[in-house]
Amino acid sequence: MRTFPTAFGLTPSQVRQVIRLAGMAPSLHNSQPWRFRITPHLIELHADPGRRLRAADPEDRELWLACGAALLNLRLALAHEGIRPVVSLLPPLGASTALAEVRSGGQGQPRPEEVRLHAAIPERHSHRQPFRDVPVATADRHLLARAAQEEGTWFHVVQPGQQGALEGLVHRANRVQMADNRFRAELAAWVGRGAGSTEGVPLAAAGPKPDPADQWVHRDFTAGQTERDPGTKFESHPLLVLLCTRTSDPAAELQAGQALQRLWLTATAQGLVASMISQVLEVRETREEVMDLLGGHATPQAMLRIGHGTTTAVAPRREPDDMVFDGVVEPHTGR
Ligand SMILES: Cc1cc2nc3c(=O)[nH]c(=O)nc-3n(C[C@H](O)[C@H](O)[C@H](O)COP(=O)(O)O)c2cc1C
Repeated sequence: MRTFPTAFGLTPSQVRQVIRLAGMAPSLHNSQPWRFRITPHLIELHADPGRRLRAADPEDRELWLACGAALLNLRLALAHEGIRPVVSLLPPLGASTALAEVRSGGQGQPRPEEVRLHAAIPERHSHRQPFRDVPVATADRHLLARAAQEEGTWFHVVQPGQQGALEGLVHRANRVQMADNRFRAELAAWVGRGAGSTEGVPLAAAGPKPDPADQWVHRDFTAGQTERDPGTKFESHPLLVLLCTRTSDPAAELQAGQALQRLWLTATAQGLVASMISQVLEVRETREEVMDLLGGHATPQAMLRIGHGTTTAVAPRREPDDMVFDGVVEPHTGR
């Protein structure tokens, strides 16, 4: 194994651990579309253009969300190592093509909230199985709302009167995607990989095969390889939230990614579990209808289902050595 690059006076093994934790962020189909350039005084976050998902995410919106989520983990991991991170999003100077630059703002103990969220990083997973029919407590909802706000975003709780319309849109979006050969081929490439794979969604984490009668249609990660247990019944009232930003641009998406991760880690730290239901925001027409549903003033970036659940299988990750590079960088992806 080559020596890992160092930054901010940390040891190579500390920096490797920082990158490992950054890489535990969620990403579309577990594509892990990030990479890091490490210099003694700077860690740059870059998109990995080879990991774009052109059928599901043609505008790279979700790629930027995933990179934002990795950035939040990076911030927490540095804070844990005693480095106060200072982040510039989309640094404008020079020829940099980084999505974000992280510098040291000096040394200091992590704050209690950072300690809690840092501990939740390896515990956070996508829970695609049915949840228990237990509501999310009001105090927890407030904590989640605050987490979103702390990263400059907010979420809209889907109200009972909106559920019917939204359910219909999710089903429609799913049908559009599954009728698209390119989308299906891309999805197939990321699911059901062998035991040694370090990316993609393993069958064990896939959740039940979706049924057209399900209230909320989940993405089908079963690759046609597992049958649904006939007794499967999803919870009747999940907490569904739409994470929103004011604008729709790469900076907003990086912001939303950090908020998504802070929200999800906060839920994890509170003993809650979550999964994402994204089809409706990936298909342009249904996404526009969701915007209308929200009154036209918000950009919905992510939809999460949050509740109480049991343990789930873990999706694998690449090694930190695979996520760092020191070469010349290509321009920003597609935007
Ligand atoms: C932008 C984005 C969209 C996602 N959309 C979905 C989705 O529609 N359905 C789903 O089950 N998981 C979705 N996920 C979750 C990823 O599949 C998951 O993060 C990845 O497989 C890694 O697994 P983990 O979350 O358990 O670490 C999404 C994640 C991100 C960041």
